Amino acid sequence: MIKEKVAQALNQQFNKEMFSAYFYLGMSAHSESIGMRGASHWFMAKFVEEQDHAMKIYRYVLEQGAEVELFSVDKPDQGWSGLSEMLERTLEHERTVTQSVNDLMDVAVEARDHATQIFLHWFVTEQIEEEATVGDLIARLKLVGGKDEGLYLMDNELEAIAARMNAATAAKITA
Ligand code: FEO
Repeated sequence: MIKEKVAQALNQQFNKEMFSAYFYLGMSAHSESIGMRGASHWFMAKFVEEQDHAMKIYRYVLEQGAEVELFSVDKPDQGWSGLSEMLERTLEHERTVTQSVNDLMDVAVEARDHATQIFLHWFVTEQIEEEATVGDLIARLKLVGGKDEGLYLMDNELEAIAARMNAATAAKITA
């Protein structure tokens, strides 16, 4: 059983992960509307990944005998100028999620809740990978120029990454 304060903080993080899913779904839609299929598939894979993060928390809260509380999901920003802006905003967004995971860890530490601290280790590690991946994509987009053929190459690369992400998700489901 976890303390009420820890359960509340976990429920808030659940909401942030659901917002992240929604945020990436909007980017997936925009990417498709501008003909960037690879980017659209990559953001869609992120949409699925974020729902998985949220559901990890959902499952943990229930397993700890606490209540799952569902809050409204905010409307994400829309109206992007292109892939470069979407990737920059993705990095910015993931940094806020990292901060939020760190704050959540502080709540668990203050509550001397060792089980929740262990549970959150996965999220701490995941955030390192998420920020690094997006930072790398931004650097590569700059390298290829960010327009015309460069954009086309980047779109193909995102398609390949999305295929790997989808295969990993499928493997998890069938495991
Ligand atoms: Fe669930 Fe991208 O953080």
